Amino acid sequence: MMLGAELSALLRASNPLRRPISRSWTCLPCRHANYRFQQRRGITTSTPGDHKKPYYVTTPIFYVNAAPHVGHLYTIVLADILKRWQLLLGNTDAKLLTGTDEHGMKIQQAAEAQGMTPQALCDTNCQTFKSLATACNASYDHFIRTTEETHKEAVRHFWEMLQHRGYIYTAKHEGWYSVSDETFYPASAVQPTLDPATGRKRITSIETGKEVEWSSEENYHFRLSAFQDRLLEYYDKNPDFIRPNTYMRQIVQVVSSGLQDLSISRPSTRLSWGIGVPGDETQTIYVWLDALVNYLTYAGYPFPPGQESRHIWPADVQVVGKDIIRFHCIYWPAFLMALDLPLPRNILAHAHWTINHAKMSKSTGNVVNPMFAIERFGIDGMRYFLARDGPMTNDSDYDNHFIAERYKKGLQWGLGNTTSRLLRPRRWKVGKCVSWATQGQLPEETDLDMEQREMLEDLPEQVQIEMDNLNPRKALDHIMGAVAQISKYFQATEPWNMADRVDPDQPSELGHVIFNIAESQRIAGILLQPFMPEKAARLLDMLGVARTTEKRSFKAATYGSDRDYGIPLIKLGRGVEGTLFPPLMTYD
Ligand code: MSP
Repeated sequence: MMLGAELSALLRASNPLRRPISRSWTCLPCRHANYRFQQRRGITTSTPGDHKKPYYVTTPIFYVNAAPHVGHLYTIVLADILKRWQLLLGNTDAKLLTGTDEHGMKIQQAAEAQGMTPQALCDTNCQTFKSLATACNASYDHFIRTTEETHKEAVRHFWEMLQHRGYIYTAKHEGWYSVSDETFYPASAVQPTLDPATGRKRITSIETGKEVEWSSEENYHFRLSAFQDRLLEYYDKNPDFIRPNTYMRQIVQVVSSGLQDLSISRPSTRLSWGIGVPGDETQTIYVWLDALVNYLTYAGYPFPPGQESRHIWPADVQVVGKDIIRFHCIYWPAFLMALDLPLPRNILAHAHWTINHAKMSKSTGNVVNPMFAIERFGIDGMRYFLARDGPMTNDSDYDNHFIAERYKKGLQWGLGNTTSRLLRPRRWKVGKCVSWATQGQLPEETDLDMEQREMLEDLPEQVQIEMDNLNPRKALDHIMGAVAQISKYFQATEPWNMADRVDPDQPSELGHVIFNIAESQRIAGILLQPFMPEKAARLLDMLGVARTTEKRSFKAATYGSDRDYGIPLIKLGRGVEGTLFPPLMTYD
């Protein structure tokens, strides 16, 4: 067995996330009294009930012109983790909205190409996105479709209000339009290229590489340029409005370099699949204006006068991919400012999944079917991988081998293995160790035990800080860092040898080791619920943590706060069947 000091140094060095510890030992009952005292004084960082309105999270709504891919899955999973985190904190009325974006040229053309009516195409394809949201266990509260009548009414009202306030005018509009991106580009943002497949000359967007076509038409415009100063002032006063900060810097740069008014309708002769401009059926509302309003539709817009504060708007966090930050961080806030509506509190942007360093995209065809991935790695295997390696500021390359490696190292050999090594042996009784430890009946802990305890005491706060910063990836790093450290502690303390030297029915130093390992699994299990809802629930069942909200809440992730667990709630099966993370089938 290693010496305590040597081992402490090794464990410290092995976890880069550890902060220096300077707390002295206090028995558990005293620590709890202290915790309750802090709570009464409002010192703790947990936030149940802090929000006056339900916490509101949104995903972008998905175009239904093609099937979903892993990039879409990623966006939904990120948003779902944020919502489930709120549930864990006790904000039981938190809401998650997802859905489909069903209007626009892209859908109109896709339907034409398939010989279907646009409505039939939408009805069929929206189901695949709904199935994806269900298959990935997204706890969405509503699945919105922009072809729903309530949404159309909300958009018409929104338009009329913009018009009423003088923000809409008609003018001739000329520019390069990309159907794929559903946006106009200025001449400076396009370039001539050759289509690699056919050798045909074409004009494409420099940013997205998508083909553009010249368009010259009379349509309605929104006075976006009038909002340049207000937007810059808002960004300045709310430096965390867009996370991560690199996207904030990009947006500030774009807005600082000047804003042009925005074309917000197309002639119905060209685009018929959309919402008609109120009072002018010769024009169809621009699909992005239509789509952005979906976030308000679910919140009950148009709000009856005087009742704005009774609704869930503004969104607390809107998750979007980096390709659509311009729409969410410039146009959307400007529209809302024009109507004096509150702005979303945060936009969380993420980078893209790539395949061989090219963006995974349905128009390029290099997509991974998320349903196959879920079937292969299990939904929680996928959720874990997406949350752990998902691109935030830089794109990430997607590869089945990366998923399998993450699964094996973090879940199978880490969390899963430690759980079964803790629960299988009959040489110690987890329930007894829990009760001795929480009632202060164990002898004084060693320095090493103390370090593990303090690491676990720090963990929930570290995770919470990252979740407050909308950084689930870092939060998960902390949890898995703790799991890895405890697995080293398990190995190094060799409790199976200790059990030979002591009477397992009497409180002894073995109790500290088993209790610390059990606590690590229990605390990790609680904190992992937003990330891997099914596996975390099973882990807590295996540990015998009561299936109550109270015992599985963020507050319960406090070290030593649960005095009576340790007897599994489910039968611990033998072999592959009984393991938390069974070996993967082949993944090549
Ligand atoms: N319909 C618009 C959004 C309107 S929201 C008012 C749209 N739809 S989309 O289907 O093209 O994209 C939906 C989301 O998926 C976007 O956030 C986009 O960034 C994301 N992704 C699409 N491809 C992706 C990757 N390759 N990687 C990660 N996310 C990706 O845009």
